Amino acid sequence: MLNDIETVLVSEEEIDNITDRIATQINEDYKNTNKKLVLICILKGSLMFTCELMKKIHLPVELDFMKVSSYGSGYMSSGQINIHLDLRREDLSDADFIIIEDIVDSGNTLSRLTSYLRARGANSVKTCTLLDKPSRREVDFVPDYCGMQIPDKFVVGFGLDYDEKYRNLPFVGVLKPEIYTK
Ligand code: IMP
Ligand code: MG
Repeated sequence: MLNDIETVLVSEEEIDNITDRIATQINEDYKNTNKKLVLICILKGSLMFTCELMKKIHLPVELDFMKVSSYGSGYMSSGQINIHLDLRREDLSDADFIIIEDIVDSGNTLSRLTSYLRARGANSVKTCTLLDKPSRREVDFVPDYCGMQIPDKFVVGFGLDYDEKYRNLPFVGVLKPEIYTK
C-alpha cells in the first residue's frame, strides 16, 4: 500500500494539530447555544476525522451519519449527489448541525447537503472539512471550518479512498497517478 503513495501530504502530527485547532474553535463557537449540537459524519470518508475531532469537543454533542455519493468508484466528479442514508430525525429545528467531510472538491456535495438540511428546517448548518481543493470549485462554496487547503492532487488515507482502498492509512498521501490511470 505504501508503495502506491507518492508523498505524504498531511502527516499524523499535522492532522492532530488540525483537529486541535478546529475543536477549539467549535468549543468556542457553540458554548452558548441552547440547541442540541449534532455532528453529521459523512460516510465513509470522514469517519476518522470525525472520531479524532469529536474526542476534542468538550460540549455535549450528538452524532449522526449520512451517506451520500457524488462519485462513482473512480475519481471524476459527476456533479450530482444521491442520499443513500439520511437522518432519522423528524424535527431538525431543535438542533445546530455541523456536517463533517473528508474533502471538498467541486463543492457540490456540501453545498447541496447544506441546502437540504436548511430546507428541512435545521436551526443552523455549518460545514467542516479536513481538506479543501479550492482550485477545483464548480459552485460558490466556502467551508466554515477547514483543516488544510491542498493543490489539485488525488489524495488518499485517513478515511479517504481510491476505489475503497487506502482508507486505513493514518496520514493523507498523494496517490501515484499511475494507480488511477492504469
Ligand atoms: P465534491 O462534491 O466534488 O466537493 O466532492 C467531494 C467528495 O469527492 C469527497 O467526499 C470525496 O469522496 C471525493 N473526493 C474528492 N477529491 C478526492 C481525493 O483527492 N481523494 C479521495 N476522494 C476525493
Ligand atoms: Mg466523500
